Amino acid sequence: MVKTTKTPNIVILISGRGSNMISIVEAIKDGSLPVTISAVISNRPDAAGLIYAQNAGINTAVIDHTQFESRELFDQAMANEIDTHAPDLVILAGFMRILTTAFVEHFAGKLVNIHPSLLPKFKGLHTHQRAIDAGEKEHGASVHIVTPELDDGPVVLQARVPVLENDTADSLAARVLEQEHTLYPAAIRKLVLANKIFT
Ligand code: GAR
Repeated sequence: MVKTTKTPNIVILISGRGSNMISIVEAIKDGSLPVTISAVISNRPDAAGLIYAQNAGINTAVIDHTQFESRELFDQAMANEIDTHAPDLVILAGFMRILTTAFVEHFAGKLVNIHPSLLPKFKGLHTHQRAIDAGEKEHGASVHIVTPELDDGPVVLQARVPVLENDTADSLAARVLEQEHTLYPAAIRKLVLANKIFT
């Protein structure tokens, strides 16, 4: 029997401007990332990235976390929506919600995150200011597989930038973000090529 490869499909979760999501869309368009995007889903109705995705003809959905009584109920609704697309990977791109263990386990091995630090350093928030305050000479971003512990899990790829003498959190964040935009498509490409999907 001849095996045919199927193009892996991904769902992207965002909470805000979605610049990492845009870099993934651009990598698909220029032919360097062999995936299709089934949906972009936001927990915030006003996420700027939703407009870009809609204009690009991508299916979008909003699951507004403020409409749920608990984190568990929100995560369940989010998981149900994601499941309708049966994605090969679920890509967290600036998705600013802490996930329940049940959600993470439901998508075990398929859930990918980008975090603006050289993990395991600086898990959590305000990573750029914390790197400056700690006197780091280098900072960066990590793409990692999500496990129940926050900003933990195996690192797929990292990108490094220097911390300059006069850096503010904003200037450092901008330097890191520029790297994120090539890092995330490259990491997704690495994952899909490593896990060839056959139908
Ligand atoms: C990115 O810098 C991403 O690394 C960070 O939020 C930003 C989202 O930007 N993610 C986290 O801090 C996750 N803990 P974007 O919406 O323009 O992609």
